[in-house]
Amino acid sequence: MTDIQSLRNDFPILNKQLDGQPLCYLDSAATAQKPNKVIDVIKTFYQNENSNVHRGLHTLSENATVRYESARETIANFLNVETREIVWTSGATESLNLLAHGLSARFNSDSVIAISPFEHHANIVPWQEACQRTGATLLVLPMLDGVLDEQGAIALLKQHKPDVLAMGHVSNALGNIHPVESLISVCNALGTITVIDGAQSLLHLRPDLKALDCDFYVFSAHKALGPTGVGGLYGKYQQLNALPVYKTGGEMIKEVNFERSSYREAPGKFEPGTPNISGVIGFAAAIDYVNEIDPSALQRYEQALYHSLLEKLRQIKGITVYGDTQNNVGVVSFNYKNEHHYDLATLLNTYGVAVRSGHHCTQPLMKMLKVNGTVRASLAFYNNQDDIEHFINALNATIDLLD
Ligand SMILES: Cc1ncc(COP(=O)(O)O)c(C=O)c1O
Repeated sequence: MTDIQSLRNDFPILNKQLDGQPLCYLDSAATAQKPNKVIDVIKTFYQNENSNVHRGLHTLSENATVRYESARETIANFLNVETREIVWTSGATESLNLLAHGLSARFNSDSVIAISPFEHHANIVPWQEACQRTGATLLVLPMLDGVLDEQGAIALLKQHKPDVLAMGHVSNALGNIHPVESLISVCNALGTITVIDGAQSLLHLRPDLKALDCDFYVFSAHKALGPTGVGGLYGKYQQLNALPVYKTGGEMIKEVNFERSSYREAPGKFEPGTPNISGVIGFAAAIDYVNEIDPSALQRYEQALYHSLLEKLRQIKGITVYGDTQNNVGVVSFNYKNEHHYDLATLLNTYGVAVRSGHHCTQPLMKMLKVNGTVRASLAFYNNQDDIEHFINALNATIDLLD
């Protein structure tokens, strides 16, 4: 059985001191830290293996191509889907833009696109742009006390029969785990295409996409121990292949003539130009690393840490915690009295505590919660009880300064 506590030693940055304070990293929802395995694979690639993919007959290029393509198999196996159903992109943002662009080719003024109130701007703005281009309507599902109103959402979906439901599996601002299973099943019965933003769920929930039965799922490597600037999207093959091309250029073509060009089948037709080869290989190393950890042990550990943090935070008078604390991946989003979240985060930083403050790229959600932002402490399995103590002590000291 995996000793989750010992995995912390695989993350060199966590031993860092900041201005004489040990780093207390509670910002994994922004980006996760990287284990040695990922760092080493990327370094080794550039030291010994660097070459372009898909276009060389020489050994280095052939090896790089094999590594790049087997990384696709690694993530496909992790998500329990077919290898040809995975497209590499620069991350969740690009994946969502690709989907909003591609799916909007079918939108008209009768089309309805449903989103949840919890969405990251990356899962709002591309759809908004698509609606503006096509005359389609953006429908926002209801929220109740900081949690998605599941029954209200289902009723609205049945009433409007949207063309697309695009929603996050997990809220980045609050950590809420959304009931995507029931909404996907309603959408599948209605013929509504489902796009699940998995940026925050890939690492914590390890979804089985066959079981989830969504049409599309997007993700970023850097939220799941991998490098920045790379990620991807899954699509049920027929639907994926039916999407029009997004970015164009070399490598994604079958034949180019000055009059017109023809394109490869998916996933190739969505991957023009030289890809982020070291990023993809580093991402596969991150998935290999995660595969060695027992998922239920990891979730039990993260939940125990989360509830310990929550309990200690609630003992501080004047703290308001937002969101769903029953179904949560380990994110605590809070404010203290009327103090500005920016001041809290800035003072916490002087104690080596790295938290996020602001609207977390969810301005509409913040408006619904009637705040202009929160402090967000987000956990991962490499955090420990010392981090929780450190954070609570730093917060108490910060509050003493502000009161
Ligand atoms: C829920 C969610 N969706 C989308 C994104 C965008 O991801 P990226 O910046 O890696 O493209 C993020 C990043 O914070 C996120 O948390």
